[in-house]
Amino acid sequence: MLCLGIETSCDETSLALVRDGVLTGHTLASQAPAHAVFGGVVPELASREHYRFIGPLFDELLERSGTSPEMIDVIAVARGPGLLGSLLVGNAFAKGLALGLNRPILGVNHLVAHLLAAGLAQPLEFPGLGLLISGGHTRLYRLNSPADMLLLGRSLDDAAGEVFDKVGVELGFSYPAGKMIDACARIGKADKFTLPRPYLDNDNLDFSFSGLKTAAVNTLRAVRQADPDFRQKIGDFCRSLEEAIADTLYEKTRRALRENSDITSIWLAGGVAANSLIRGKIETLAVENGKKFLAPKLEYCVDNAAMIAYAGWLLADSGYSHKLGFTIIPRGRKIPFDFVKMPS
Ligand code: KG4
Ligand code: ZN
Repeated sequence: MLCLGIETSCDETSLALVRDGVLTGHTLASQAPAHAVFGGVVPELASREHYRFIGPLFDELLERSGTSPEMIDVIAVARGPGLLGSLLVGNAFAKGLALGLNRPILGVNHLVAHLLAAGLAQPLEFPGLGLLISGGHTRLYRLNSPADMLLLGRSLDDAAGEVFDKVGVELGFSYPAGKMIDACARIGKADKFTLPRPYLDNDNLDFSFSGLKTAAVNTLRAVRQADPDFRQKIGDFCRSLEEAIADTLYEKTRRALRENSDITSIWLAGGVAANSLIRGKIETLAVENGKKFLAPKLEYCVDNAAMIAYAGWLLADSGYSHKLGFTIIPRGRKIPFDFVKMPS
């Protein structure tokens, strides 16, 4: 079964093809340079850029993979959460294709697709514990199957990626800053700045990163003002920030593992899962507890259509599809599991 995946939730326009679980084509146009001057994604600009890119990317994908539109068996599109105008572009394109080619369509939950992206690299093992860390979300899930994921905890305010990006702006890095902070942290020492490990003094699995974001920005401003040599210490600062985020994520994941000891694997997902320190700590947690560690390749941690095509293929293979009237869901609303199931 050949599944076309379409991703336009935020600022990456991407299309991919997955045949029977194997990625056979992938195109991506990042809008990051267009938004960088504003220090964050501008929704109206994002929709316009998606509209500009999506047609040419579709043609390029088919040409590079030697595929004709008729060879596509099913179409999967990210239906949310995301920016409304951006989602509209991808979903209108997907529905037009489904209608024109007379093929089934699936509106895929972008967060579920992030979680399943590890399956592009190695077989998925259920039940698993999933830590999804991106620019907009920090969440812990118990993963029973591709169609059954239980939310255990989530960020009550900012996501881990938001801390990287906002502190990055303060450091003068371009948006999104996680990758740059990761690179600087590698030459830094962890014990030079004291930053909090937030929201651990409780017995739930939720996160709260806004306090750490404020503490990091305030520390940075104070130290920079007092120390003309601060530029030499950027690596140390980035390392301290990364350690604070990684320790917090590690500790809540460790507690979730204690409560879900029957799981066989720990999965990482989302853009921040590309972070070397966080990846290392969560992998250590998995290995020390006899669990398998699953994570996507670095390029499939950030937003991409390979994960949408893969999730769409998994769900279609289990008999799920949508009626053409399925809706898109912007940020902040629960995404219903409203697929129709074909009798097997
Ligand atoms: O999953 P994603 O592409 O978009 C959302 O759905 O939010 O994640 C983007 C986030 C940004 O906050 C970016 O700074 C962060 O992932 N990121 C990283 C790294 N690479 C990307 N954060 C820390 N270390 C990295 N190496
Ligand atoms: Zn994402």
